[in-house]
Amino acid sequence: MLGAPGVGKGTQGRRLAAMHGCSLISTGEILREAAARGTPLGLEARRQMDSGRLVDDDVMIGLVRERTLEPDARDGFVLDGFPRTVPQAVALDAMLAERGQRIEVVLYLEASEDELVRRLQGRRECPVCKRAYNPEGTPARDGSHCDDHPAVELRLRQDDSEEAVRQRFAEFRAKTAPLVDYYTVTGRLRPVTGMGTVDGVFETLRRETGFGSRTPQTN
Ligand code: AP5
Ligand code: MG
Repeated sequence: MLGAPGVGKGTQGRRLAAMHGCSLISTGEILREAAARGTPLGLEARRQMDSGRLVDDDVMIGLVRERTLEPDARDGFVLDGFPRTVPQAVALDAMLAERGQRIEVVLYLEASEDELVRRLQGRRECPVCKRAYNPEGTPARDGSHCDDHPAVELRLRQDDSEEAVRQRFAEFRAKTAPLVDYYTVTGRLRPVTGMGTVDGVFETLRRETGFGSRTPQTN
């Protein structure tokens, strides 16, 4: 899943992974969990994340190399938030080729920056399952607790402050947008509108990933 902050990579990636019966690997989520546990990697990453800057390529490549070797990733995975730079994309292709795997499709979600800023300002997420909500478009049933964990209060994400969001967009434009060319040249890019309802966007994504031998579940 490729796209700017707030475009719906996590929201849609979660649904796609469930539909294809594979794991969702979100590098942002992995870093936030490491930070919450207070590991050295997590604490260092927290500084970068909270200011809206990308974490170093070497750290991210090592992290994804290990994560994609775990048993739940053996039959495929949806990557959310990785790669985010050309060196990460090159390293990913090389590491998967060594294993006889490859990235089949790159879903490039697009939406206007005004819409994305609105979404990020309103985002609240469940600290347990990490599902994201928004009063406009994706509200929780009771407004402040997770639908799937009714005892758990939704919370803000630390990097959704105005300043960090501005920096995240700048990082996206400078370092991640060049991946559009990288994946276009190799014939894997599928641009998809991220505007519209969550169900509407998902329907388009579902069509774009209707590949391979796995029979998608229908729910
Ligand atoms: P990461 O966690 O990946 O953040 P991001 O790319 O900024 O994207 P977000 O998670 O904010 O947005 P999203 O696209 O997942 O949207 P969501 O579904 O939540 O990375 C965080 C940080 O980690 C980075 O800044 C960096 O420091 C570091 N990092 C991670 N990976 C890295 C890497 N590879 N290299 C270097 N550093 C890395 O939706 C947003 C909101 O909109 C929610 O409220 C949701 O409910 C709502 N919403 C979703 N879809 C719709 C819709 N269709 N209509 C209305 N509302 C919607
Ligand atoms: Mg996300």
